[in-house]
Amino acid sequence: MINCFATVARGLEELAAQELEQLGAEGVEPGFCGVGFRCDRKHLYTINLWARLPFRILVTIAHVPCRNSDTLYRGIQSIDWDAYLSPGHTLAVKATGKNQQLNHSHFTALQVKNAIVDQQQDRHGERSDVDTDFPDVQVNVHIKDQNATVSLDSSGSSLHRRGYRPAMGTAPLKESLAAALVQLTEWSGDVAFLDPMCGSGTLPIEATLQALNIAPGLFRDETSQGFGFQTWPDYDENLWQKIVQKAKHRQKSKVTVPVVGCDRDLDILSEARTNADYSSVSDHIEFNYTDFADIEPPADSGILICNPPYGERLGHTENLAPFYKQMGDILKQRFKGWTAYILSGNKALTKCIGLRTARKIPIYNGSIPCQFLKYELY
Ligand SMILES: C[S@@+](CC[C@H](N)C(=O)[O-])C[C@H]1O[C@@H](n2cnc3c(N)ncnc32)[C@H](O)[C@@H]1O
Repeated sequence: MINCFATVARGLEELAAQELEQLGAEGVEPGFCGVGFRCDRKHLYTINLWARLPFRILVTIAHVPCRNSDTLYRGIQSIDWDAYLSPGHTLAVKATGKNQQLNHSHFTALQVKNAIVDQQQDRHGERSDVDTDFPDVQVNVHIKDQNATVSLDSSGSSLHRRGYRPAMGTAPLKESLAAALVQLTEWSGDVAFLDPMCGSGTLPIEATLQALNIAPGLFRDETSQGFGFQTWPDYDENLWQKIVQKAKHRQKSKVTVPVVGCDRDLDILSEARTNADYSSVSDHIEFNYTDFADIEPPADSGILICNPPYGERLGHTENLAPFYKQMGDILKQRFKGWTAYILSGNKALTKCIGLRTARKIPIYNGSIPCQFLKYELY
């Protein structure tokens, strides 16, 4: 069994733990900004392909003492690095966390890199080159107190970068956060879905990918980007191809309810269309150029979800209060029978909505503490 740690956005640990369990992870334990679990190689590949919420799946290979840089160096040298890379593989080391003696991540990473390549040099007379952009093996070292956790990054670049989004809008949600928000609404393609301020389309696209059971990692597989584990010495191409083929067979061909994204900005809407094209879901989403003031529900009932401007990155708080009040009025008057969810990073503004919340879920959008607010409209 392989010991893993999935890094996730703050606040999404429990939801990510559920997702990982559904994908076959064992011994799942949510922690701070991550989830520990165990799995075999097949499930490591499967989780990288299918998990919508984590950023990276780290494979833990050792815990070593790290009271100071010398003990860290010796601890790293006690690992048999031939098991993970040969001098022909390129290498990068990333360090996180700190203690009193090791309080510069860059220095810590350098010390770890030196310990690895010195071992190679002693054993083989040659060593791995460093490639910080596209390393064959990415080593992660996390320092906590006197203990360093040494891991290999099986994902490569962060899994939230699905590879379908060439166009980014002005304040796009991370794909992993959008996927989590959709999961929190429990929408499963059975009722209409509307994002009336869809920006670059992240929410309707992630919702449609879920409804069509499209594995988010398929886009990465089809580009040259790949996953971290694909350049490891033990990479099993046959196993990976089987998992990819199975995923392709499990895709559904149709969403049977309207999925609609609207925005009042034509340029951003065209980005949303481009992104939907890249993610092969454009046939299933209707994008409309509509101001929220003119919005009409596309069905008698459904899920409305949106991430309106809340003054941090777009607009200004003071100008937005009347807009939030208008949002509440429109939801109340036109969306009877719907359930609405609003992600907001500004409590004063959300009060202006003037509707009773059925649920408030604390969530982080990057470093911004937000609330995901649920409104039952009847
Ligand atoms: C924070 S962004 C949404 C980002 C989006 N979730 C994404 O991932 O790209 C807010 C969006 O609301 C749109 N917007 C602001 N006021 C609007 C209005 N009155 N009617 C429609 N769209 C509006 C903006 O054009 C912007 O694209």
